[in-house]
Amino acid sequence: MPDAAAGPSAEALLTRVPLFTGLGRVELARLAAHLEPVDVEPGADVIRQGDPGASLYVVERGVFAVLVSTAQSAETRVATLAAGEVFGEMALLTDEPRSATVRADTAGRLLRLPRDRFLEMLSREPGAFLAVTTTLSRRLAARNAAQIESEQYLGAALERALHDLPADRRAAVLDACVLDELSDDALRALFGAAADRVRTDLSTIGIHADGPTRAGLRSLRHRVQGSEGGAAFDVRVARVTERLIAGRGWDDALAVAAREAGHPQLAALLGQALRAVPPIEPESAYRWAGQLSDDDVLRDSDVALARAGALAARGEHTGASALLRRALGVALVSGDEPEALRLSEGIARVSEDAADAANGRVAPGGRAAGARMRRTWRAAGFVTATVLLVLVAALPGAASPSSFVALLGAAIVLMTSRLVPNFAAGLGLIAGWVLLGIAKPAEALGGFASKEWLFVLAIYGLAAATARSGVLFRAGLLFVSRLPQRLVWQATVLLATGVMLTPLVPSSTARASLTLPLTLAVAEALRLPERGRSAAMLGLGAWIGSGPLMFAFLNGSGTCLLAWGLLPDASRARFTWTAWLAAAAPLVIVVCGGALLLLVAMFRPERVERAPRERVDLQFAVLGPPSPREVAIIAILCLTVLGWIAAPWIGLDLATVALLGLLAAVAIGAFDTRAFQGLDWDFLLFFGVVLSIGKLAVTLGLDRAAAWAVGSLFTTWTPGPTVFVLAVAVISVGVRLVIEQDLTVLLGSLTLIPVAPVVGVDPWLVVIALLATSVAWFLPSQTPSYLLAQAASENRLFSHAQAQRFAVAWTLLTLLGLALCVSYWRWLGLA
Ligand code: CMP
Repeated sequence: MPDAAAGPSAEALLTRVPLFTGLGRVELARLAAHLEPVDVEPGADVIRQGDPGASLYVVERGVFAVLVSTAQSAETRVATLAAGEVFGEMALLTDEPRSATVRADTAGRLLRLPRDRFLEMLSREPGAFLAVTTTLSRRLAARNAAQIESEQYLGAALERALHDLPADRRAAVLDACVLDELSDDALRALFGAAADRVRTDLSTIGIHADGPTRAGLRSLRHRVQGSEGGAAFDVRVARVTERLIAGRGWDDALAVAAREAGHPQLAALLGQALRAVPPIEPESAYRWAGQLSDDDVLRDSDVALARAGALAARGEHTGASALLRRALGVALVSGDEPEALRLSEGIARVSEDAADAANGRVAPGGRAAGARMRRTWRAAGFVTATVLLVLVAALPGAASPSSFVALLGAAIVLMTSRLVPNFAAGLGLIAGWVLLGIAKPAEALGGFASKEWLFVLAIYGLAAATARSGVLFRAGLLFVSRLPQRLVWQATVLLATGVMLTPLVPSSTARASLTLPLTLAVAEALRLPERGRSAAMLGLGAWIGSGPLMFAFLNGSGTCLLAWGLLPDASRARFTWTAWLAAAAPLVIVVCGGALLLLVAMFRPERVERAPRERVDLQFAVLGPPSPREVAIIAILCLTVLGWIAAPWIGLDLATVALLGLLAAVAIGAFDTRAFQGLDWDFLLFFGVVLSIGKLAVTLGLDRAAAWAVGSLFTTWTPGPTVFVLAVAVISVGVRLVIEQDLTVLLGSLTLIPVAPVVGVDPWLVVIALLATSVAWFLPSQTPSYLLAQAASENRLFSHAQAQRFAVAWTLLTLLGLALCVSYWRWLGLA
């Protein structure tokens, strides 16, 4: 039950605070987890003028005085604050010291919100942003009135000093004074052909580009700034910055921003510079990122990575890693999966750097240059191989099947290089087929016109609708509040949670980003020692549930759907959602049970105490009862799964059932244009192309050719189903050491599925053997979702060494499971 302090009153208050009125229930409940109650005695100072700011405060009860003192005057009361009002926001926004002292007039209670969460809320919630800006604008209006007076006075003085120049040339000189340095590049970016004339005009009024430029520029700038006043000068600065950006003078623009603007603007501009084509040089980016604080860069992964690079180059690896973890936290809270992935890769890179530096292999910063060189060579190698393969495909007189194979090779090389996104390589493939006459446009785009593609589209849509409805968040809370006592059961529940989320959240990265922070919260609430035996068991249990078990469901992940799409028509028709589940279930049971036994045997956890409940109760109270939309989406999901189960009997196919589910989600408003735009279009386009590849390979007779080639190999000896399935699994484990997950499954399916009938097994067995072994983590960077799982748990649940030992055991367990299940599959008529 809620305690007296953070009980119903706190919950009612939170919904009334103007700052929070723009937040939905789910966001407010998320935020409530970070609000810490603070009791205050009468006369106590909550914040003192001049101190640095770290938190925002909401008055829950009591009366508070806002007091300002200046060099000339003692403390003056400027405002009085009561329940529901907020203070402490200014220092957080401006990064300047506290502008006032806030003292308790009476005894009271405050809710303290840490700076990161406040800024994160502002960046995501326009309503909250508006509430803050309204308050600040009122104060600004008063200041502006005073400024206009001084502007008029100083303007006259400046006019006298510059009156000899014609108006347009004077304007150019005034613009130039905004620059930090009168470099040729900067003047050209700013004035184009008129650059030389501006330089001459500047020297006429005594500012020479080759003289003590900075001092002269600075004094002119101060005069202009003084005469124009802050607001007009800001407009001038903005205009000059824009022109510098347009002329690609990023360093000059950043120098101006570093001097004139606040840290948030500098961070925003640096983000723009890093995303420009071509981007700013890393050394420059490091310089500017080094001037920012960690708090400034948390919401922009590019800038956070640049700052981490700057810190790592100075040898501050711990700081770099801590910064990236915080940025990852922000990305996870906002559900930004691609950014979370990039940040976890960054964390892995920083740890490698740190290990290298500790071993004395590279001087700090030396690695960056070496790595760039290696990347350039690697890219050149990949591009050459791609071009050669395309040329082979385009050789005059080449037969369609061989051109097809050469083009596919080119696309796979390009995808492995990661120089372009997968979808772009896929679209290139389609263009190649059509241009070389291998397929007509309708055949080349056949994958997109298939039920499989529609099915995947609908699945991703349903997953997006579910994630937006708040159902998952509520489920997570329920989970934390009902956790069983024993650690083994907790690990089981965490593992099962990941598995149960699988049909709802088909991306394993997204699942890992949901369950691992939850597991970390559990471990923290139970006060488990970091990377101790118990924490490792919980963390690895959660990872297994959210990642490697994806083969349990037909829509367990994009990879799973991709393999399904590559099955021959007969197998695909046979493997409906339920048939897949039934055929995969024994393997899932063997590896789940086995994994739990292994975890207990390897980590031998101790007994622990229950987690405190007050905070979860407050979160539940804020969340309130399930909204009609949540109830509706739960009903839609249940009906969709029932529809999949009943599909063969009601004469519908999986795609139509999923599409009906998605349309229902559209009807209740859970899947709107924003959700549609937020779908993983990179994967969806890539998936369409992969389906076309499978269909074209069959049209061109490549499956028969492969089967014939292998059949002739097996004339004297044909492997039995068990040996074959194990061979596929071992090949997959080996290939995964060099090639990424989707490509392994794509290549494995294309080459091994045609062999299955020769050996006398259903092609689905090839697919399940590939999928069960396709999530690997022997090396930290093998699987993105593993990297994310480790980073999302802030490396505090398990170390990579612990996970690596478990990876070996897990792989052996999977091989054993596959071997054991062959008799079951034979019984099903699949072997
Ligand atoms: P900050 O500068 O972080 O710390 C002192 C806080 O007092 C400030 O944020 C505002 O929240 C608050 N404050 C400052 N001036 C006023 C004012 N004139 N009226 C109301 N609140 C104020």
